[in-house]
Amino acid sequence: MDKELVLVIDFGGQYNQLVARRVRENNVYCEIYSYKTPLDQIRNMNPKGIILTGGPASCYEEGAASCDKDLFKMGVPVLGLCYGAQLMSHVLGGKVEKAPVREYGHTPIKVDTTSPVFEGVKENTSCWMSHFDYISKIAPGFKSIATTDNCPYAAIANDEEKLYGFQYHPEVLHTPEGSKMLRNFLYNVCHCKGDWEMSSFAEDQIKLIREKVGDGKVLCALSGGVDSSVAAVLLAKAVGKQLTCVFVDHGLLRKDEGDQVEAIFGPEGHYDLNFIRVNARDRFYVKLAGVDEPERKRKIIGEEFIRVFEEEAKKIGRVDFLVQGTIYPDVVESGLGGESVVIKSHHNVGGLPDYVDFKEIIEPLRNLFKDEVRKVGLELGIPDHLVFRQPFPGPGLGIRIIGDITAEKVAIVQDSDAIYREEVEKAANEYAFEAAEASGVKIDKDHPDHALLRSYWPDWMPDQYFAALTNMRSVGVMGDERTYDHAVALRAVKTIDFMTAESAQIPYEILMKVMNRIINEVRGVNRVLYDLTSKPPGTVELE
Ligand code: XMP
Repeated sequence: MDKELVLVIDFGGQYNQLVARRVRENNVYCEIYSYKTPLDQIRNMNPKGIILTGGPASCYEEGAASCDKDLFKMGVPVLGLCYGAQLMSHVLGGKVEKAPVREYGHTPIKVDTTSPVFEGVKENTSCWMSHFDYISKIAPGFKSIATTDNCPYAAIANDEEKLYGFQYHPEVLHTPEGSKMLRNFLYNVCHCKGDWEMSSFAEDQIKLIREKVGDGKVLCALSGGVDSSVAAVLLAKAVGKQLTCVFVDHGLLRKDEGDQVEAIFGPEGHYDLNFIRVNARDRFYVKLAGVDEPERKRKIIGEEFIRVFEEEAKKIGRVDFLVQGTIYPDVVESGLGGESVVIKSHHNVGGLPDYVDFKEIIEPLRNLFKDEVRKVGLELGIPDHLVFRQPFPGPGLGIRIIGDITAEKVAIVQDSDAIYREEVEKAANEYAFEAAEASGVKIDKDHPDHALLRSYWPDWMPDQYFAALTNMRSVGVMGDERTYDHAVALRAVKTIDFMTAESAQIPYEILMKVMNRIINEVRGVNRVLYDLTSKPPGTVELE
């Protein structure tokens, strides 16, 4: 790819991917590399600029993550963030010490607006601090370009060498003008042109795929999730009927989801490709009958998925390429680039490559973040409801039914969940229409721009929410009858990365409406509970 490149050098901070996303939002392509990457390799990539991330250590401690002094002497602009700023000072002859006052959270900051990195920024603004150490003495050639009450060097600059450091985190939304500051670094200091656009990405990929595949046969495991769908459409646009998509309906999908996927990708759908839907519901239910241990259920579902897929692949015969919907966070988290601790990895289609004979894997989304995948999806004309789908686990409702799985329980969860999603989305959209109008933005109610509408969704709108079935029945009364029925749990979380999460505060009147509708419309439910647990100690899913 012949694009401008900025490197994000990862020192193990929790926001490393966020830094990269902010850079890309400013139309500059960037990649994340470990601080251990050799200097020669960095030089060979010919970056327009380098950003050093935060990190958990103290740079003056023995064995702390460090970098080569020559990194700052290549003539490439460098911006250090938090630990990155401290490290830059430490390596270049300044002093970093434990700060007399630890700063954490929103902090007022006064910036020198004549600095190229603060162009257009208010002189008195706010930033997000999180540090124990601080720069107590700057390195030769540097000056202070921002201060806080406790930090004489909240931002530092050596304009001549194009070296900059921010003690705070411009990448988080809590620094309101942070994105502008990063943009300034990219455009005023690195002189980037901004050639990273999703429309050209799709075009370029389609061309590249066509060249690579030639007249080969391509197989794709389509889950109906965003990643595999966007990957499949790129392939379909590139090689049409040479692509076969296999969609395994394991009977644990959300209500009507199988039909929705078929409507888009099937013979009556939007694309020119071979689509095979395998209705394997009964096979899965038989295998799962009486099994109540969560990990065992996951394993059965994963293994059965592979069996079904394998059988279909055999029927197709020769396969040259297998498509995978791997995205950039998967690449970074699998430890290739980054330094952050791998907490856990989930695989929707675990281990497929081991079970299908093929020559090569194609991963067209390997360099994209999730929001970029969505943009490509919209560029390709994939319907909004699919592009903006919530994350949905591979084992599906299998891990949203505590205990053993039956067809009756699946139907209860599907119906309750559909009501819950319908009501929450309706309320959020109503709120958004009003909020947009209040700020002078008109959104067409009949054919709304969903991306725009979503940007006006209320703060309480969860990042993931669903109904689950507790393994509990309780006594109730309906009419004059005693009931002994199931309890449904409503889960809703706010999260940035799904590693930690908080329960979302959906307004009471919406929850009441959902409860009423579930009790009235879903047979077999007489109690609705709201799960308040954060993660940790809970997890997002109930199993
Ligand atoms: P947990 O429950 O681990 O969920 O807090 C975090 C995120 O991961 C999803 N999840 C899974 N995804 N296979 C998947 O593909 C799984 O086995 C699985 N378990 C959880 C979950 O929906 C949430 O987005």
